[in-house]
Amino acid sequence: MSTANAQVKIAAPAALELKGLGKSFRLKTGGFFRPGYVELKAVRDVDLTVPKNAIVGLVGESGSGKTTTGIMALRLIEPTTGEIWLDGENITTLEAGELKRHRRKMQVVFQDSYSALDPMFTLAQIVAEPLHIHGIGSAAEQTDLALDWLERVGLHRSFGNRYPHELSGGQRQRVAIARALILQPDVLIADEPTSALDVSVKAQIINLLQDLQEDMGLSILFISHDLSVVRSLTDTVAVMFNGRIVEQAPTEAIFTDSRHPYTRSLLDAIPVLNPRHRRARTFRSRDELEADKPQIAASDLPGGPAPSEQPRLVTVAPDHRVEAVVTQ
Ligand SMILES: Nc1ncnc2c1ncn2[C@@H]1O[C@H](COP(=O)(O)OP(=O)(O)OP(=O)(O)O)[C@@H](O)[C@H]1O
Ligand SMILES: [Mg+2]
Repeated sequence: MSTANAQVKIAAPAALELKGLGKSFRLKTGGFFRPGYVELKAVRDVDLTVPKNAIVGLVGESGSGKTTTGIMALRLIEPTTGEIWLDGENITTLEAGELKRHRRKMQVVFQDSYSALDPMFTLAQIVAEPLHIHGIGSAAEQTDLALDWLERVGLHRSFGNRYPHELSGGQRQRVAIARALILQPDVLIADEPTSALDVSVKAQIINLLQDLQEDMGLSILFISHDLSVVRSLTDTVAVMFNGRIVEQAPTEAIFTDSRHPYTRSLLDAIPVLNPRHRRARTFRSRDELEADKPQIAASDLPGGPAPSEQPRLVTVAPDHRVEAVVTQ
């Protein structure tokens, strides 16, 4: 195929693209007299695409690097390696002024919204603050839009005069969502937005996110431990282990045709409510799982013979990539 043809085939840019993203932290070791450092590679070589109007799940055990990946994408911390592309623009090294323009397009909701909601502000002020920061509208227009958004996330307009401490956990998440979406971003990073909530409230917040996603054509990176929520909400799933993405596939393929032992061990850990369906669980250590990289025969690859260089992630089916060793 000629280059010109290849370019014609390229679709609209993805909403968010992470390319080879990595983050190392320097940790102090030893004591005062023998200080030293070790380097912790919290995130390594993450390639992740969030298409427009899609929800991508990011799952993995505690400490696997999900939050670090999310806050790097937002440029709240600087990556050690790699690039962040937002709507087809490389934002990795943009300076503060330029970045501010792009920040409008990407917002975040965290698990613990209480700390993000200033206790001294009314909810109307909290939700309107992004408009204020970006100088959008008059004060009256900002308040009006904030009250509209409180309604849109299922709270009465009268909540505008209340304060964060007067709210339940679910109501606080609604406010955090209103505040994140009032600027009409293209991308929302949702980092465990429901994991502090009761089951019934959790379902309501998930439904709300789903409705808003459809209404606004939002692209969401949904970070979660909760695999049943991930299964019902997302289009594709990336599985993180030890700072790397080890498998990525359309959601159903992750749940019915996973190829990486770590993905399987995550799925095995989902509680099964009906005791008759309970399987014997095998708990495997991180080292065991690291040593157990899947081996895939080159002849089994859908793309025909293996490339001359071993890629880290091998494509085993359409849009399904897994960390594996290709054998000849
Ligand atoms: N500022 C920091 N300094 C040093 N180490 C850090 C820092 N932030 C994160 N880490 C380490 O990086 C690794 C990844 O952490 P991260 O918070 O991204 O994991 P996570 O997948 O979000 O976990 P969880 O599911 O518990 O939220 C962990 O080992 C963590 O201790
Ligand atoms: Mg986290």
